[in-house]
Amino acid sequence: MPIELPTLDYSFDALEPHISGATLKTHHGKHHKAYVDKTNALIAGTPLAGASLEEIVRHAAQRRAHESAMTKLFNQAAQAWNHSFYWRSLRPPNDGKPQGALGDAIRGTFGSLPQFADALKSAATEQFASGWAWLVLDGRSLRIVTTSNADTPIVHGQRPLLTIDVWEHAYYLDYQNKRPEHLDAVIGHLLNWDFATRNFEAR
Ligand code: FE2
Repeated sequence: MPIELPTLDYSFDALEPHISGATLKTHHGKHHKAYVDKTNALIAGTPLAGASLEEIVRHAAQRRAHESAMTKLFNQAAQAWNHSFYWRSLRPPNDGKPQGALGDAIRGTFGSLPQFADALKSAATEQFASGWAWLVLDGRSLRIVTTSNADTPIVHGQRPLLTIDVWEHAYYLDYQNKRPEHLDAVIGHLLNWDFATRNFEAR
């Protein structure tokens, strides 16, 4: 069964005014769809047809150092996986904050929620060129990490809790080159802490 483009849990305009409907439509319907379609084209007729997207990402990651075809597959499949995770990392504008054990762990690691937000913004701003900023569990430790291009924490032994896409296609229509302003909007209003909590508690 081919990999499918997941539908969003919210409407295209549900993240406004922080992310426009036009950005979301293009990001989901063109960029994410292209990663899904290209992954399907690359696995068609191979033993990976029928594997889950996560299995494909892991398989390609293990072999990419020696096989250029696997680098190609990794880039498409990991981008498909990262985007699926990204859509669930967001939700319509809300004042949600990390609660319970996750809230405690964030305060214990970063000092306070505002300090965490600053650290996440700095990491995401400083990620050179295209990539992703993540809150992950690394062993039992919470960490903020960034990955370049399609790279993803799931092939580095880390469990992602939340991610922010910092490819220009995620914000250029709305913020042009002002990535920090986009990050203020996402970190301040759109993060889905219920999703992060479920990921944290699944450890
Ligand atoms: Fe993206």
